[in-house]
Amino acid sequence: MEEKHVVGQVMITQEEIFSRAKEIGTQISKDYAGETVLLIGILKGAVLWLADVIKNITIDTEIDFMAVSSYGEATKSSGVVRILKDLDRSIEDRHVIVVEDIIDSGITLNYLRGYLKARGPKSIKFCTLLDKPTGRRTEFKADYVGFEVEDKFIVGYGLDYDQRYRNLPYISFLD
Ligand code: IMP
Ligand code: MG
Repeated sequence: MEEKHVVGQVMITQEEIFSRAKEIGTQISKDYAGETVLLIGILKGAVLWLADVIKNITIDTEIDFMAVSSYGEATKSSGVVRILKDLDRSIEDRHVIVVEDIIDSGITLNYLRGYLKARGPKSIKFCTLLDKPTGRRTEFKADYVGFEVEDKFIVGYGLDYDQRYRNLPYISFLD
């Protein structure tokens, strides 16, 4: 029989997310005034958040996507991440902003930073919908953070448990 998971109450509403996306989109537009930014969304979780943020960016913006997956527990500590889908185009000399759904251990984005830096972008910053600072296993600080969350398993608004709950129009958690 299929396992049942109770989705907890609403932790962050869609309205709160919209409002934060507006603040961050506005901030990005100021920080890169006169430049073009390339947003790199990390599939699949970051799709909903990326869509909210880009609508609030008023400078020239392009989008690309990557899909990544962490290796099993044993190799996780080595910080190795498997690239399932790489970028379509070069990022050389581009202003890059990586957009992620949540930072927990920091291992995924720490690895991606090294991987992308090696391709010679003009600059690289990180934007995340959620940050779970208590989960860190490696030093990582994002430049644009939607919300800090406590150490719970978060679902909704792109975040999944076994591919479910990405469609919830708010942030919730599993009990
Ligand atoms: P990190 O490498 O530990 O920072 O992991 C980041 C990735 O793990 C995110 O892109 C998510 O896919 C996944 N993840 C971490 N915490 C959660 C959570 O609470 N809910 C859903 N996915 C999570
Ligand atoms: Mg992810």
